[in-house]
Amino acid sequence: MRAVGLTVNGIPVIETVEPRMHLADLLRERLGLTGTHLRCEQGACGACTLLIDGQPARSCITYAVLCEGAQITTIEGLEDDPVMAALRQAFTAEHGLQCGFCTPGMLITARDIVSRLPAADERRVRLELSGNLCRCTGYVGIVRAIRRVLEQRRAGALAASAAEPRRLGPVGSRHGGPVTGAASVPLVAAIGDDAPPAFGEGDLGLAGKKPNIEIRQSFVIARPRREVWYFLAEVERVVPCMPGATLSSSRGDRLQGQLAIKLGPIAAAFNGEARVIRDEAMQRGMILGAGRDRFSASRASAEIEYELSAEQGGAATRVDITVRALLLGPLAQFGRSAIVSDLAARISDMFARNLERRLAGSSDAMDEATGPIQAGSLLRAVIVARVKKMLARLWGKSRR
Ligand code: FES
Ligand code: FES
Repeated sequence: MRAVGLTVNGIPVIETVEPRMHLADLLRERLGLTGTHLRCEQGACGACTLLIDGQPARSCITYAVLCEGAQITTIEGLEDDPVMAALRQAFTAEHGLQCGFCTPGMLITARDIVSRLPAADERRVRLELSGNLCRCTGYVGIVRAIRRVLEQRRAGALAASAAEPRRLGPVGSRHGGPVTGAASVPLVAAIGDDAPPAFGEGDLGLAGKKPNIEIRQSFVIARPRREVWYFLAEVERVVPCMPGATLSSSRGDRLQGQLAIKLGPIAAAFNGEARVIRDEAMQRGMILGAGRDRFSASRASAEIEYELSAEQGGAATRVDITVRALLLGPLAQFGRSAIVSDLAARISDMFARNLERRLAGSSDAMDEATGPIQAGSLLRAVIVARVKKMLARLWGKSRR
C-alpha cells in the first residue's frame, strides 16, 4: 500500500492505495465521484476521460500512485465552468445524448476542443472526438452541439477559458516540466484537510440565487419564549442539539463547523461557515451559511430564518423555521425528492427534543447526537409511515 496525495476538484486529498489501483477506481470507490464512468477499462472508449493537470486523460489506465501531486478535475468539478455550462445547454438543445453513459467523458473532450481549437471545423471536431465512443447517438447531435459552442466562442459570446497548464510527456506520467500550481500540492496541509474551508462574506447565504430546496418547519418547546431566545444565542450548546452537526469555532457572529450525513453507501461531510444575525427586539434571527463536501465536491449555500412566538399562555414557545438552500453537485439529486421535507421534519423533531432536554438541564443522551445523521434509517421510517398512510386511505375507501 502507498499513500498518494493529489488535488481533486480543488480539494487536497490523501489516500492509501494499492499500487495497481487505477485513478478511476480511487475517484469512484473512495471519493464517491461516480460522474467518471467506466466501460471498456482498457483505454479504448473514452468514458472515463477527465482532466489531469488540465489535459484530458483516461482514468481507467492511469495508476492512482502516478498522480502524486497532480490536479485532477472530474465532471463534478466543472459545474461552474462557463464552457461546460454552454456545452451542457448545447448538448440538450442538439440532442447530444441518449442514455448518457458516454456523456461525462464526451463533455470533457468537447470542453478541451472548444478551449484549445476555437477554429475547429466539423472534420476537426470529428477527428478530435475519435477517442470517445458513443453507442447511442450516431454522433450527429454531439458534433452539432460542439460546433454551436465553438460558434459562440468565435462570436465572442463565450469567454475563452483560462490557458490550461501543459506538461510535456504522457499525461499523468509526472515526467513533464513544472506546471504553475500543479506540482506543489501541500501534502502536510492535505493530511489536516478537515479544517473548514474559508468562505468570503459574499459566499454566505443565497446572495439572490434561486434555492432548489425550500422547507418550512415548526415545533413547540415547553419552555418560555425568553428562555428559548437566550438559549439560541449560545451556539456552543445549540449546535450539538442538531443531529450530525459539530462546531469547530465561533468568533463574534461567525461560526465554522461540519454537518455529516450518511445515506446507505453515501457519506457526506459538509465543512462550512455561517453568520448569525439576531433581531433582539422581534426575537427572530437569520443564519447565512455555505458549505462544501470534500468527497463529492457538492456545495450548499443556505439561508435559515427562525422566529419565536409564545404558546400556551407563555408556558411554551413555538419556533417557526424556513430553510432556503441551493445544493449543487452530485448530492443535489437528493434535494429534489418530495420525501426530503418529511426527512427534514424528523430531523427538526430530533433537534427540538434535544433543545428541550438541554433547556431542562437534562443529561439524557441526545437523539443522534454523535456521528452523522443516519438518513437511511430516517428515510426508511418516512417511507414506512407514508405506505401506512396510503394503505389506511385505500382501506378506508374499500370499506365505503
Ligand atoms: S473506460 Fe476508460 S477508456 Fe474506456
Ligand atoms: S449517449 Fe449512450 S453511449 Fe453515448
